Amino acid sequence: MQAPNATRSSWAIGTSGVILGRHGRSLLVCRKNSRPQHPGDRSRNERADPCRCPAHWDAPAGDPRYRLRIACQSGNDLRSGETFRLGDKAVAADPGAVAPPAADDLLPPQFTPGSSGNYAAGVLDLTLAGPDAALLPRLAEAMAYGASVDDLNSYERSRIVPELKDAVSERWPYEAEAFLATNGGYNAVYTILHALVSSGSSVAIEHPTAMRLLDILEDLGVKIIPVACDGEGPLPDSLREALQQRPAAFLFQPRLHSVTGVTVSSSRLDQLGDVLEDSDTLIIEDDGVGDVSAAPPQSLGGRFAERTIHILSLSKSLGPDLRLAVLSSSAPIVDQIQSYRSFSAGWTSRILQGAAAWLLRDPASWQLIGEAREIYQQRRDALADALSERGIPIPPGQGLCLWVPVVSEPFAMVTLAARNIAVNPGSKFSVLPSSHIRVATSTLSHRCEEAADAIALAHTP
Ligand SMILES: Cc1ncc(COP(=O)(O)O)c(C=O)c1O
Repeated sequence: MQAPNATRSSWAIGTSGVILGRHGRSLLVCRKNSRPQHPGDRSRNERADPCRCPAHWDAPAGDPRYRLRIACQSGNDLRSGETFRLGDKAVAADPGAVAPPAADDLLPPQFTPGSSGNYAAGVLDLTLAGPDAALLPRLAEAMAYGASVDDLNSYERSRIVPELKDAVSERWPYEAEAFLATNGGYNAVYTILHALVSSGSSVAIEHPTAMRLLDILEDLGVKIIPVACDGEGPLPDSLREALQQRPAAFLFQPRLHSVTGVTVSSSRLDQLGDVLEDSDTLIIEDDGVGDVSAAPPQSLGGRFAERTIHILSLSKSLGPDLRLAVLSSSAPIVDQIQSYRSFSAGWTSRILQGAAAWLLRDPASWQLIGEAREIYQQRRDALADALSERGIPIPPGQGLCLWVPVVSEPFAMVTLAARNIAVNPGSKFSVLPSSHIRVATSTLSHRCEEAADAIALAHTP
């Protein structure tokens, strides 16, 4: 979006902001909802907290020296005609009247973008909502089996090994026409979107959602339409409104939401199906948390077999180093996805597929998955209870993290950083204004009280 009253060649407008960094002679300032221009600027994890400013400023057309992203410290308050502070220099922002200063004038050379922070040794790192490695099944036997599956080292681009297809089909939430193994859940989403959704179209997605899903969508250059959610999943009315913009796809988590910990109720899924009935939108179901969820898998595939793509990631239940997910859809859609894959991986390691199939057939794995689920629940509940005792109620949920409301994300992040606790700001998971932090609980086996004390301090300025 261009700044109000500004011409494309004018300088940035606003009250206060910071330069995030430099890429060659380019400055990185706010460029929300537009396609990242620099490799290091692609991921929400590596980039600084997004700016909420309505005065989004684009680089002067055709001038490669100035690609600006402005991160406001003060929220929504950029105003046309006010002074904008770039690094140490105040720049009067009379649109069109002020020549852009030279990049070298403005940027301390050592300044680099990003908001991950450099924490001291002993940091309590609650940023990664991944599985606890100690709770995952052992891989040695499974890998030995994987190394003996048929057709090893053939260049045949097979879609899925029969053992894996049989193992997942038993618990698949609908009768699917075709299956494909991919190199993890995000690889599946990335490949689907690149194969089937063109840049410039729009995609409806839950608000909030997983940071990487937003990364993939933003990188592809699609318009993101947020769909509001409650304690049962995406809201039908919000989806209906989103569908008025005729998105190419609705991408959602049909089982356990990886950020909020909400499980989609079966009645809500039915209602979403009713809303989707009147559209031809592609339905992409991303079951990223998989069998860490206590709820059974569910899908709209039984109702919309020809336009649903259902993805199950095995990373949280069997281990992220298997790099495996399985997707299903109609045969023509799977053909299209597979044909896009021939530009890159071509197929997914048959060794890893065989290993996963072996684990899925082994009752001991299911025993471990069940035990891990319980431990994740205890860790999540322990922090949620400790926060409730400190006056921060958290709705019930499951999974690997807590979505904690805060009054101000910057205040919360600074307060926690000062106590050497790393979490993610909610804005990384959202394209709308956000007042949350995402706190991983999957490995929080001790120091829960310490984390709760710090979060309570961080909650309200
Ligand atoms: C919503 C969602 N989708 C997909 C994934 C896929 O993970 P992976 O690529 O490790 O299989 C995740 C992992 O955190 C997730 O949260």
